[in-house]
Amino acid sequence: MLDQLQQSGFSKKTNRVKVVLEKPLGIDLESARSLNDLLLKHLDEKQIYRVDHYLGKETVQNILSFRFGNGLFEPLINSEHIDHIQITAAEQFGINARSYYDNVGALKDVGQNHLLQLLTFATMDAPSSYTNEAVTAARVRLLKQLDARSTTLVLGQYNGYKYESGSSPTSSTDTFFAMKTTIKNDRFSGVPIYIRAGKHLAQSVTEISIVFKVPQNRLFKHIDLGGQPNVLTYRIQPNEGLHLQTLIKRPGHELGLELNQLQFCYETLGHTLLEPYEHILYDAIQGNQTFFNDAEEVEAQWGFIDAITKNRPEVETYEKSSWGPKSSHTLIEVDGRSWLTPRESFCTPNKS
Ligand code: BG6
Repeated sequence: MLDQLQQSGFSKKTNRVKVVLEKPLGIDLESARSLNDLLLKHLDEKQIYRVDHYLGKETVQNILSFRFGNGLFEPLINSEHIDHIQITAAEQFGINARSYYDNVGALKDVGQNHLLQLLTFATMDAPSSYTNEAVTAARVRLLKQLDARSTTLVLGQYNGYKYESGSSPTSSTDTFFAMKTTIKNDRFSGVPIYIRAGKHLAQSVTEISIVFKVPQNRLFKHIDLGGQPNVLTYRIQPNEGLHLQTLIKRPGHELGLELNQLQFCYETLGHTLLEPYEHILYDAIQGNQTFFNDAEEVEAQWGFIDAITKNRPEVETYEKSSWGPKSSHTLIEVDGRSWLTPRESFCTPNKS
């Protein structure tokens, strides 16, 4: 295609030409590099728009506005205050007969791209300015700090997957993955990050939760719920918004505590969210590459995925409508923690 474009007179020299590319952008680091080399032979990086539609999600972009547009939370986003981070991207449905999926699996389908993007937005340092170069550089810096060596990976396949149209009866393709990873920088030193994503799970929900430490000297630690952490959750979808779990006094004569959610819901404010592709196509037309991947970013993502799959774990079967295989629970429970169950009632009218 690129050769044909060049033969038709479109190239680096015809600056107005833009090429918008959808994933897969390679199947591993080597193929991603070859694709980038080919693209850059014919085009300038400024002409290439590599799409990850998660970058076009309003709620993902809002993470940057929330973190770097307010003064209150950013000073707390570090190992002094954070116990751990959880990211869940769960889907209640299966592969919908996409034969493409069987050659790819969950880790490469959504892990290498969407989930790593969620992680970078939640943990990257403040960019020096709100420009494409600075925002992309901050994401890439974080990706390169992911510690593949300390990462534990779990893969799962839902029961019945092998017999669906589009998959092979002997398939060992992952329809689920979970991992525990860490970031090698001062800010997140010792903060575990747990990520899980998959098909045919108990809910369709995507969210990032920052679980804060419970201070040793918390006054009400000794009473019921007094040891519950504050949790900041970015709800990417559905019922988009964000909430902060806090403790309040339960009204009454006796001292008692109740868990409460301070929350912001887009819908309550009457906002209509743009579709990710509306953002992306508009930005591509405008020539704004802030929410697109450059060659270095895609290669950094694949570098991490290649490194953690060098010794690919066995794929474990899980039941449909569950929260994934047993090992994904063990992964977090051995650390004395557990997966948070996303609140289905979050940001729905007439429910708390
Ligand atoms: C796509 C994957 O990139 O993202 C799908 O190929 C997945 O398997 C989809 O279902 C999820 O996107 P969204 O926007 O529905 O969360």
